[in-house]
Amino acid sequence: MAHSPRSHSHSHAAGQPAPATAGRLIRWAWLYDAVVRVISLGQDRALRRWTVDLAAIQPGETVLDVGCGTGDLTLEAAGRAAGLVIGLDAAPEMIAVARQKAARRRAAVDFRVGLIEATGLPAGTCDVVLSSLMMHHLPADLQRRGLAECRRVLKPGGRLVVVDFLAPAPGGPAGGANWLHPAPAAAAPDLARLVSAAGFGDVTSGTAPFPSLGYVGGRAAA
Ligand SMILES: C[S@@+](CC[C@H](N)C(=O)[O-])C[C@H]1O[C@@H](n2cnc3c(N)ncnc32)[C@H](O)[C@@H]1O
Repeated sequence: MAHSPRSHSHSHAAGQPAPATAGRLIRWAWLYDAVVRVISLGQDRALRRWTVDLAAIQPGETVLDVGCGTGDLTLEAAGRAAGLVIGLDAAPEMIAVARQKAARRRAAVDFRVGLIEATGLPAGTCDVVLSSLMMHHLPADLQRRGLAECRRVLKPGGRLVVVDFLAPAPGGPAGGANWLHPAPAAAAPDLARLVSAAGFGDVTSGTAPFPSLGYVGGRAAA
């Protein structure tokens, strides 16, 4: 697969069929950024910066953003990485919006329609894999398969950063839910176990400084 950035090519992604997946796609890409702005109480840009900081992306690193949506995090990562940056989403509509943004900003990001469970990338190509607000769109078995694929495409020592809704506290109110978003089926604390089970070491997790969100980090064994 060619790895040249494609952000300059005007996209007909929206006319492409979506690949088959059990993940829940978002087809209303034109509204997505506005919804994130409201759900995050205007903290969306800060959330993207915080996520990229967490990944400690270094100049020249290769970054993959799985389930990248309209590409805000991917573009933030591209500002730091200056290496090959790829954004994958199963929804052609999301990729079309992301490509338009990249073209407007003259950002060299390779946005592709694709799946977390089958990225099409060769093994050991990425320094960093990001997954932001997307794991809760996958059923549990697909979360496992997706994380295994993230592990496969990472270089030895490469980092995974997952940011997602927190799971509801046992017996408590739906912790990960807020009034605008339903509680996810499997979220940050469970994801830490899944990340370990997918073969990652140095697994860390915690709450994010944003309402209802948590993170999990892991490192592919060297
Ligand atoms: C809530 S959005 C998150 C978008 C972006 N990462 C962000 O932080 O705003 C979840 C995205 O996952 C995508 N998605 C669902 N299943 C997928 C799969 N199997 N592979 C790749 N993307 C998928 C959806 O189309 C949607 O764009």
